[in-house]
Amino acid sequence: MRMIDAGIFIPVGNRGWVVSSNAPEEEDASYPRVLTVVKKAEALGFDFALSPAIWRGYQGSSEYWMRSLESLTLSAALLQATSRIMVYGTVHMTVYPPATIAKMIGTLDQIGPGRVGLNLVTGANYLDLSHLGLWRDGLDHDERYDLADEWITVAKRLWSEGVVSHKGRHFALDEAVMGPKPSRLPPLANAGASGRGMKFAVDNCDIAFIATGEGQEYIAAAKSARTTAGAAGKSDLKIYGLFTLIPGDTDDDARARLAHFDAGVDQEAQAHIAQGYAMNPNAKDVSTISKGRGGHGTGSSVARWTMIGSYESLAGRIAKVVDEGDLDGIILVVPDYVTDLEAIAGRTLSRLVEYGITCRVGQA
Ligand SMILES: Cc1cc2nc3c(=O)[nH]c(=O)nc-3n(C[C@H](O)[C@H](O)[C@H](O)COP(=O)(O)O)c2cc1C
Repeated sequence: MRMIDAGIFIPVGNRGWVVSSNAPEEEDASYPRVLTVVKKAEALGFDFALSPAIWRGYQGSSEYWMRSLESLTLSAALLQATSRIMVYGTVHMTVYPPATIAKMIGTLDQIGPGRVGLNLVTGANYLDLSHLGLWRDGLDHDERYDLADEWITVAKRLWSEGVVSHKGRHFALDEAVMGPKPSRLPPLANAGASGRGMKFAVDNCDIAFIATGEGQEYIAAAKSARTTAGAAGKSDLKIYGLFTLIPGDTDDDARARLAHFDAGVDQEAQAHIAQGYAMNPNAKDVSTISKGRGGHGTGSSVARWTMIGSYESLAGRIAKVVDEGDLDGIILVVPDYVTDLEAIAGRTLSRLVEYGITCRVGQA
């Protein structure tokens, strides 16, 4: 029996991951809604909730992501409001100096001891960051990960050492001191789709997230992440798949839901998201997975790896990807994070056991 971890990708931007005027109204990116979602996830038995770092909304009639909550301040409130679930915040290491985030983690660990984690990203969408003056000029794709290596080295030292001096290419610390220390090093995740991104995860993190789905290319990517980690002597790196689901009572209902979302697809927003990746000065390094995120050019309002089907049929299909991709965990995207998550817990994840997989969700 394979035991996996299960978490949710918190919808901190309005409309979540459905780029459509017909996306569920409920995902309005308000704090009361996000709080309800995360408390629900905890009650259902999910192991973790991860909020992304989003810095802009996009042009178009759906006003996609025009409102989004900041990840780390949100994490503070969520840790206070919960008691068991792990709460991961996301930071762009190109935006903040490591000392700033190290200090915040020390504080967050006081609020939810041992329950704060970090998703570390370098940023790939130019428009997401540039309008606020947050795009880091002068560093190419791999150099941003070089900065990331130095960033996390400094942060780890601040979390564990008494006095830290460091002189590197990007950061300098002079007999730096910091307290309180977190009760443990925060679990660290990264979602790099490139070879360099994966190397960062292998060298520095506990978890590598990869977008996944039923296509052979996703299974291959998951397996290759495992092989890369093993070859680098990091066989305990956990590989978690990001699953985007559109569930329904029947397969036809799920397809009808997608058709409804697609009828309101906001192609202007999708084009704007795609433009953001294309404007990255190192656009050639932007992964096809990133480019496929907004559904641009497909006529659909969801990412191209989305799995559509009845709650029951998704169980076997998720299990197959977990099994063939040799995944340690899953992180879920759904259209409606209250009604869908409840049904996914009771009708989908509870059935994984029939396929030789267990998780803590849906066991009650
Ligand atoms: C689960 C998951 C979460 C992610 N969260 C963010 C995020 O919050 N902010 C962001 O700018 N990019 C995010 N990304 C994108 C990745 O950090 C990364 O930039 C992308 O996969 C491209 O890989 P590369 O940097 O190795 O080229 C996420 C990706 C995944 C799969």
